[in-house]
Amino acid sequence: MNIPQYDQDIFSDAAILDPYDHYRAMRDLGPLVYLPLYDIYAVSRYADVKKVLLAHNVFRSGHGVAGFTWPEAFSVETTLTSDEPTHSRFRQIIGAPLAVPALAQLTTDIEASADALVARLVNLGQFDGMSDFAHFLPVTIVSSLVGLPEQGREKMLEWAGAAFDVLGVDNDRARNAFALVGEMIEYVKTQCNPDTVKPGGWAAQIWTAMQEGRITPQEAGTLHVDILAPALDTTIFATGHLLCQLATNPGEWDQLKADPSLIPAAIDEAIRLESPIRTFARVVDEAQEIGGLTLPAGARVLVLYASANRDERRWDDPERYWIQRPGLQGHLGFGQGRHICAGMHLAKLEMRSLLKSMLRRVDRIEVGTPELQPNNILRGFKSLPARFVPV
Ligand code: HEM
Repeated sequence: MNIPQYDQDIFSDAAILDPYDHYRAMRDLGPLVYLPLYDIYAVSRYADVKKVLLAHNVFRSGHGVAGFTWPEAFSVETTLTSDEPTHSRFRQIIGAPLAVPALAQLTTDIEASADALVARLVNLGQFDGMSDFAHFLPVTIVSSLVGLPEQGREKMLEWAGAAFDVLGVDNDRARNAFALVGEMIEYVKTQCNPDTVKPGGWAAQIWTAMQEGRITPQEAGTLHVDILAPALDTTIFATGHLLCQLATNPGEWDQLKADPSLIPAAIDEAIRLESPIRTFARVVDEAQEIGGLTLPAGARVLVLYASANRDERRWDDPERYWIQRPGLQGHLGFGQGRHICAGMHLAKLEMRSLLKSMLRRVDRIEVGTPELQPNNILRGFKSLPARFVPV
């Protein structure tokens, strides 16, 4: 059977602003589609996305998870872009401070910061849901926990956005971002070392692992990218979506107010509906069968989390924000299997802390029209006019 072809550009400006009709069309075409514009394949149905993610030994990350082969100068091996056994070795180091027991020690501080922020915004009246609200915890608390040298830190947000743009396909948006990614790699190589990072911070723990002989000096350098790039925008965008969904679905907000035990579901449902990471890719060394179609050896395949999370074959009424949604735990917004997000407990802790405070202090949330921040991989807002109506 021939693999169906989808001729549209799913990375055009218009498609990035509104990708969901494209994803539906791809799902309807078949379990595997070919995108001739980029000479790449894609899986877009829930069942196939999950299957690919779980088969990490076959659908590999070690050739990079971008939709194209990167220029050699930028090809660094990180937790995200490695296969076993290297991946597990890296993940133990990166994952330790992000695991639930380590985060438990931070909960009081994060909740206090979140509460102070919400109290301030309630008094402020009108605010920006992104720069004033969603940015706050990642940019203050998380940046400090990472403990990178001060110099250059202010560029972290810009670098993080660029680091995701280059994980898309070979288009102008990716090519224009390479200069910034080069700056980020240069910063890591020249500014981050055991003497410049904050003692006790996450970056310092990477250097400790090197001193213990668990990773090489070169690996210690590149592992900083794992905590630099994904820690900010992902959570910021998820927080923006959460705010927007709760404001535009007042019935769901009322349910949450009546039953705060629904907080984790409110967060997961926002990430399912508006997955902050739309896609990453995998590469197969040998031909693989997907839904009766053959993916050729050496092919690169986009794994569309954002499409799987709206697949009508898996979800009832997939475009609705519904916090009591049956089966919500199975969403793929944090990935699945070996490469499942290493920072998801931190992201959830940040969002949970904000919601806990909002439930106490906010009666109603109002939002205006959001402006999207275009990115090859990420989905999130640049700005979101908002107001908290106090209790
Ligand atoms: C709501 C916020 C977030 C979302 C939606 C998200 C999403 C994802 C997804 C979909 C993956 C899977 C990659 C794959 O399949 O190849 C991933 C991996 C990863 N994420 Fe997150 N992420 C978030 C927050 C964070 C934070 C806060 C951090 C760090 C502090 C982080 C660090 C990582 C790392 C290191 C990996 C690679 C894991 C591996 O390959 O084993 N993420 N994330």
